[in-house]
Amino acid sequence: MTTVYLNGEFIPKERALISVDDRGFVFGDGIYEVVRSIKGELIEWYAHAERMSRGLAAIKIAFGPAEVARLQDVCLRLVRHNELVGGEATIYLQVTRGAAPRTHHFPPAGTAPTVFAAATVFTVPRDARQNGVRGITFPDYRWTRCDLKTVNLLGPVLARQAAAESGAYEAILLRDEVMTEGAATNSFAVIDGVLRTHPLSNLILPGITRAVIMEILAELAIPLSEKPVTHAELLRATELFVCGTTTDITPIVMLDGVRVGAGKRGAITTRLQDALTARLYSARPRRLTPSLATD
Ligand code: PDD
Repeated sequence: MTTVYLNGEFIPKERALISVDDRGFVFGDGIYEVVRSIKGELIEWYAHAERMSRGLAAIKIAFGPAEVARLQDVCLRLVRHNELVGGEATIYLQVTRGAAPRTHHFPPAGTAPTVFAAATVFTVPRDARQNGVRGITFPDYRWTRCDLKTVNLLGPVLARQAAAESGAYEAILLRDEVMTEGAATNSFAVIDGVLRTHPLSNLILPGITRAVIMEILAELAIPLSEKPVTHAELLRATELFVCGTTTDITPIVMLDGVRVGAGKRGAITTRLQDALTARLYSARPRRLTPSLATD
């Protein structure tokens, strides 16, 4: 039996019911996070909490940093209740603007946000990490506040469905002929020997894994250019990888049916994967320098 958290209670998943008036359901009016746990420890909790608080503040949901901070204990309890302490899990957190009669503008002050969290077992797909996956390019249909992790995910849903239909793992999104990120990942490419990624802006999510990778790059003295990659440049990338909380660093070895570089995991990708793995599974987990996550 799965235990989830809803509005202050730990209850069986079957009993976790939300109103049809919930603004998350009606408008996609909410913010979510996906956090990883390894052997009962939350990975980069503080960076996730900071991003969630920023997102909630940006869309003016009355759920402040102190309330987000209290969700750390909720996550840990969910991992324990669901007997996920021995291995890995993902914890999904969602806060919406609550349930109220449908009006586009905000409901009356005092409407309680809906707060939901659930933990699920996670198994690392080692083959994908080592041998890479297929990707497609797809138009970035999303709005212009992609820096907010809102539950409104139709752009990524359509992109991932197109990827699935062509036997690919991820869709690399192109806006005005520029690679922004993956449908549910950030993306990096090696062009003319230089590692590149889209700079932080309103057009991409400030990924926690992206920030961790930037810290690792500095430690390994591998240069990074935050200059957007054009579609034309992407076609001659020698390495391409996507990253995220559940994706870690996953090489894309085939893009739109054409080999990327040698068609296998590249040297920079492998070095970064090794460093990320060491960091994730080290006995004394390191914490991301806070400012890196969202600046
Ligand atoms: N996705 N970009 C987008 C659009 C994302 O949705 C995600 C995460 C990332 C990577 O962010 P992070 O490293 O903080 O996980 C980048 C989550 C995992 C999801 O939607 O399930």
